[in-house]
Amino acid sequence: MEKYRSLCILFIALTVQFSTFSYVSAKRTNIFTDQQALLALKAHITHDPTNFLASNWSASTSIREWSGITCGARHRRVTALDISYLNLTGTIPPQLGNLPFLSILSIRNNSFHGTLPDELAQLRRLECLDFSFNNFINLEIPSWFGSLTKLRILRLNETTFSGTIPQSLGNLSSLQELILDYNELSGSIPTSLFNISSLQKLSIHGNQLSGSFPSIIFTMSSLIFINLRHNGLSGGFSPTIFEYLPNLEVLALDDNMFAGEIPSTLSKCRHLQVLSLSNNHLTGAIPKEIGNLTQLKSLFLGLNNLQGVGKSCTTEELFTCI
Ligand SMILES: *[C@@H]1O[C@H](CO)[C@@H](O)[C@H](O)[C@H]1NC(C)=O
Ligand SMILES: *[C@@H]1O[C@H](CO)[C@@H](O)[C@H](O)[C@H]1NC(C)=O
Ligand SMILES: *[C@@H]1O[C@H](CO)[C@@H](O)[C@H](O)[C@H]1NC(C)=O
Ligand SMILES: *[C@@H]1O[C@H](CO)[C@@H](O)[C@H](O)[C@H]1NC(C)=O
Ligand SMILES: *[C@@H]1O[C@H](CO)[C@@H](O)[C@H](O)[C@H]1NC(C)=O
Ligand SMILES: *[C@@H]1O[C@H](CO)[C@@H](O)[C@H](O)[C@H]1NC(C)=O
Ligand SMILES: *[C@@H]1O[C@H](CO)[C@@H](O)[C@H](O)[C@H]1NC(C)=O
Repeated sequence: MEKYRSLCILFIALTVQFSTFSYVSAKRTNIFTDQQALLALKAHITHDPTNFLASNWSASTSIREWSGITCGARHRRVTALDISYLNLTGTIPPQLGNLPFLSILSIRNNSFHGTLPDELAQLRRLECLDFSFNNFINLEIPSWFGSLTKLRILRLNETTFSGTIPQSLGNLSSLQELILDYNELSGSIPTSLFNISSLQKLSIHGNQLSGSFPSIIFTMSSLIFINLRHNGLSGGFSPTIFEYLPNLEVLALDDNMFAGEIPSTLSKCRHLQVLSLSNNHLTGAIPKEIGNLTQLKSLFLGLNNLQGVGKSCTTEELFTCI
């Protein structure tokens, strides 16, 4: 067993060197190096309750026949790796960065843990990355995520990441969806995020964010969905804050410490369907312009100090309270 193990480690070490070399010269990577990367991943899985990889990812068959793998029709290289919902336990090996054509990577809902190797920063064609529902306990979001500039979707929902959100994510100039719900992220929201003119969905629900809301956000016509519920965000809203968010449909800022008045410019968000501001420290009158929001389906303003809404008014009672 020991002998086998050391052979295995030697094999992996050789593979790393070979893979790194072949990445440098992209022409030298081929379907074989793709297979080596996937087999390295398989070797890092310590628990596979459904025997998924053990039975299916066989070195003697073509990776095109492996479940969870998609290859490009033309170049026949690995373009998608989806091993979601398999209850796998394991770590991510550096070799995974040696899939130069990978555009979709999802390990959603497993028990991956450990660190995220820097080599994953080589996945320059990655468009969708979903690491949600894993156990990267005490790990910070690596700043090299910011170099995956083709990313359109980044989902890290409930991955137990801690630390702050790296500024470098602002470099993801094609990003449409950033989901960081239910982690242990602290610090302020990097202003660089609001430089991403393609961003449609921003969700950082259930973290420990603090500081005020960067007012620059409110010039983003791409934004449709903002969910920052259940954090420690504070400060007020400037009167013009909602002036240039013409496509916003959901604004959920409840369970924070936002203070001051609700700006009447909110009525410029003509497509707003959900407005949830309950359990903050908002004061003043509810702007009557809210009545202009003809698409509005849900309005939660309770547990604030708003005039016309009783202090103890729950969200359910809101409509009768106003
Ligand atoms: C892997 O599983 C897929 C889907 O169940 C199947 O089509 C394929 O033949 C299997 N490949 C191997 C090598 O067992
Ligand atoms: C994963 O484990 C849970 C219980 O721990 C079980 O309900 C579920 O069916 C498992 N999923 C798979 C794909 O084996
Ligand atoms: C993730 O998988 C677990 C079983 O391993 C299951 O209980 C849970 O509902 C899943 N979560 C989601 C969001 O699918
Ligand atoms: C994140 O996970 C929670 C469940 O834990 C779920 O309610 C929420 O919708 C998820 N967010 C996204 C954007 O998928
Ligand atoms: C990305 O962003 C960081 C911080 O915002 C910056 O220092 C860096 O030069 C940017 N570019 C790359 C390619 O990471
Ligand atoms: C936003 O992008 C511009 C250039 O496109 C840059 O000059 C500026 O520093 C960026 N702002 C932030 C907060 O990253
Ligand atoms: C909102 O409706 C009022 C009438 O209730 C109208 O006077 C006002 O111009 C409207 N505002 C916007 C921004 O549409």
